[in-house]
Formats: sequence, structure tokens, C-alpha cells
Amino acid sequence: MITVFGSINIDLVSRTARLPRPGETVPGSDYSLIPGGKGANQALAARRAGATVRMVGAVGHDDMAAAALAELEAGGVDLSGVKRDGATTGMAVITVDDHAENTIVLSPGANARLVASDLAPGAIGAGDTLLLQMETPFAESLKAARQAKAAGARVILSIAPFLPVERAAFADVDIILVNETEAADLARHLGLLPGSDGAATVTRLAAELGRTVIATLGPDGAVAATGAETISVPALKVVPVDTTGAGDTFCGVLAALLDEGADLAAAMRRAAVAGSLACAKAGAQPSFPLREAIELSLAGNPAFP
Ligand code: RIB
Repeated sequence: MITVFGSINIDLVSRTARLPRPGETVPGSDYSLIPGGKGANQALAARRAGATVRMVGAVGHDDMAAAALAELEAGGVDLSGVKRDGATTGMAVITVDDHAENTIVLSPGANARLVASDLAPGAIGAGDTLLLQMETPFAESLKAARQAKAAGARVILSIAPFLPVERAAFADVDIILVNETEAADLARHLGLLPGSDGAATVTRLAAELGRTVIATLGPDGAVAATGAETISVPALKVVPVDTTGAGDTFCGVLAALLDEGADLAAAMRRAAVAGSLACAKAGAQPSFPLREAIELSLAGNPAFP
């Protein structure tokens, strides 16, 4: 059982040939309203990968709330831990260009009201997984991590978007998820030199923190350092349409596979494939693959022995 304690947003998405420079206006497509938020995205990705998932989060007393929860509800994520609090649901204003690159401005809304006590006592048990990100108050996430760790659960923290996290914050965290930029930022923040590549950086971070550190590397796949070993997996070759939510897909699918008992290498292969598949379609949540699609892409694929 996976509990995601984190953000729920509505994404206001506009496509444009190229991203505007500061002070510039560029023509955009018709806008779309798409359910998003790193927490909700990870919950849905895990659910589509086959996990039983409970979402603990907050939406506002506005018309956006129902739209923000629609895919989670349709996908079978348990929403009993989602509260309505405050005026507005979190909104991410996203611009995507012709190269599938994006910019995101996030207005947190109700996400800022999520507190650790929203996680019911006893809600997480031994062998469960708690999945955290950085779009809700971090001090509350750390309290949730403490509760989960004390119960014997696995705690996974995705440091996205990047915030300078102190060493002490990892006390109750088992696995740290970053992208290559976040890995370098974290290394510098901890007074380490980033390595010459993602593998070197996660190896340094894992040694320093005594935790498994996993970095997604975009089209180069992902790499994990556990302290004992380094595991690299490739990405699937796709024509990228929109990378929004690809990192969240990786996190959710990785959590789902670990929660069902897969070893780290098997979980990473599926997470990397899922992240690649998510880049091949527009939007965050509508692009997340079902488990069958992940397994189909892996089966007989020589890149994934
Ligand atoms: O990681 C992608 C997500 O970041 C989007 O869905 C958006 O809501 C922002 O939180």
C-alpha cells in the first residue's frame, strides 16, 4: 500500500513555438486545464502501475477542485485523505514549446495548508510506502516521514522542485529521488562537488548521506547509487511531445514496483520506461502509462536485458 502525502494542482497549459523571454509576449495555443501536481501525478502513476494508493492532500473550495481530482478518482486512487481547505486549489501555469521543454509557475493554494495531522494515526503500517515531494510544507512532510518510519514503512522523497534540504531532514528517508540538476544542486548545497556525470554525483550523495539516491537523466535513463552498488537503466527511445510529469511518472512507478516487492533494478527499468512513455503524449496525468503498456515496451526490448 502506497500513501502519497503531497500536492494536488490543476495545470493551465498553453503550447507555444518557443518559450517567451522576460518581458516578451508570444502567441500560444488554446489552453487546456489538466489535473496535475507532483503528489497527485505520482499517486496516479503508481496506481496505473498496479499499486493500491491513498492520496493525502488538500484542494480548495473552488470549481478547480473537482477537475484536479478527476483522473485520480477515475483511476481508483483512494481520496478519503484529501481535504477541502482554503479558497483555491493549487494551480500550475505551464508553457510547453515545440521541443517539449516547459516552464512552470506554481500557485500553491490549498497545498500550503497540508499538515502532518492530515495523515490519520495508524494510516501507514509496516511494509507500506510513503511517497513525498516538495510542493507542500516540507516540515509537515518530515513529520509524516517520522510517523511512517516509526511504523516500519519505506519512505521515498522526491526533491522536486528543488529546495536546499539539510542533512538532518533525511533521517527518516530511505530513498532520495532527484533529476540530474537537482542532484548537482543537492551536492553543492551539502558542500560536495557534483561529479562529472549523474552517476558520479549520486554515488557521492549516497556515500555522504548513507541513503539510496536515484537520479533521472532524461533521454539517458536513470542511475541509482545504494552505497553497495550503482545501477544504470536506459530510457525508451520516444519522440518527445511534452516532458511535464515524466519525473513524477518515474517516482510513482518506482514506488509501485518496490512496494510490490520488486528489486531496485527491476523497479528502475519499469520506472524509466514509464517516464519515457509519459514524454510521448501531451499533458501530465493523461500521459501516464498503464502497467500493461510498460511491460509491453520492456518485453523483448534488447535495451532492457
Ligand atoms: O511535475 C509536473 C507537475 O509540476 C505539474 O503537473 C504541475 O502541477 C507542477 O506541480
